[in-house]
Amino acid sequence: MSNRQMIGAGVIVAFGIALSIALSAQNASKPAPNSDAKPRPAMPQYNSDGALHLPSDYRQWIFVGSSLGLSYSQGGPLSMNMEMFHETLMEPGAYKHFVDTGTFREGTMLALLLHGTGEKVLPARHGKFAADVHGVEMAVKDTSHRAEGWAYYNFGGMGGIRTAAQAMPKESCYSCHVEHAKRDNVFLQFYGLLAEAAHIKVSAAAEHGPTLALNGLDPVMLAGGREEMGKPEIVETHGTLRYQFVSEPNRARFAADPDAIVTHSTSEFAKRYQ
Ligand code: HEC
Repeated sequence: MSNRQMIGAGVIVAFGIALSIALSAQNASKPAPNSDAKPRPAMPQYNSDGALHLPSDYRQWIFVGSSLGLSYSQGGPLSMNMEMFHETLMEPGAYKHFVDTGTFREGTMLALLLHGTGEKVLPARHGKFAADVHGVEMAVKDTSHRAEGWAYYNFGGMGGIRTAAQAMPKESCYSCHVEHAKRDNVFLQFYGLLAEAAHIKVSAAAEHGPTLALNGLDPVMLAGGREEMGKPEIVETHGTLRYQFVSEPNRARFAADPDAIVTHSTSEFAKRYQ
C-alpha cells in the first residue's frame, strides 16, 4: 500500500467511526417507542372561566348534513327570519364512535355553520348557493361540564368568529334540542348521511327501543331536586320510556314505586326545561 492509499484508508475508517457515533447519538435522542400509546380522543377544551374553545380544525370535520332555511328561532341576531344554509360537521373521532355504536360518546362535538344565501351570480341563472358564513355554533356532550350532558355555544359570525364562548342558557338552545331532536339531543332526522353510515333508519330512529326518559337524568335524583346523568347500563323500562340511574340502589328504589318517582321527576324536569 502506498502512503497515499494508507491515508485514504485511514480517512474512510475515521469517517465510518464518525458516522456510527453520529447515528448512535441520533438513536439515543429518539423517544423510546411506546407500544401501548393510543391516539387520544379529541375532547372539548375550556378556558379557566369555563368558556369552550372553538377547535382550530373544525372546518375539517366530517360533513353529516345540510338544510336550507329550516326555521326555528334562535337567540341573538340569527333569530331574524333569514333563509340560510345550515351545514352540520362532526368531530371525526366521535363520528367513528357513532358509526360503530349508534351512540354519541362523552366529548362528542358537532359544529353548525350558517351561511347566507347567494344567487344570480353568473353563469348561474337559477338557484342559490351558500355564501358567507354568518354563524358558527357548537353542540358538545360533556357530563363533567354540565349535568344534563349537552351544552350549546354560539361563536358569532357576521362581526367575526370568537375563539371561545360560554354555554348558552338552557332555555335558548337545550330545550328545543331535548324536545325535538331524534336521538340524544342531536337532530339525526336531518342527517341522512350520518344515519346511513350508522345503519340507522332515520324515520325509525326514535323507535330504537323504548325512548330515553328525562334525557337520561336519574329520576330518583331529580325527584330529590338534583340533576345527575344516569348510566346507560343501569336502566329500568316503565310504560314506553326507559329510565337511567346513577346506581343500582336508585334503580331498586324506582322499581319499588315507579309511579310516584315518575310524577315527581317529570314535574322537576318540566320546571327546568319546558
Ligand atoms: C326551536 C328549536 C331550536 C333551538 C331553540 C335551537 N336549535 Fe340548534 N338545531 C335545531 C334544528 C332543527 C337543527 C337541525 C340542523 C339544522 O338546523 O340544519 C339544529 C342543529 C344544531 C346543531 C348541530 C348539531 C345537532 O345537535 O343537531 C348545533 C351545533 C346547534 N343546533 C346549536 C344551537 C345553539 C347554539 C342554539 C342556541 C343559540 C340552538 N341550536 C337552538 C333546532 C333548534
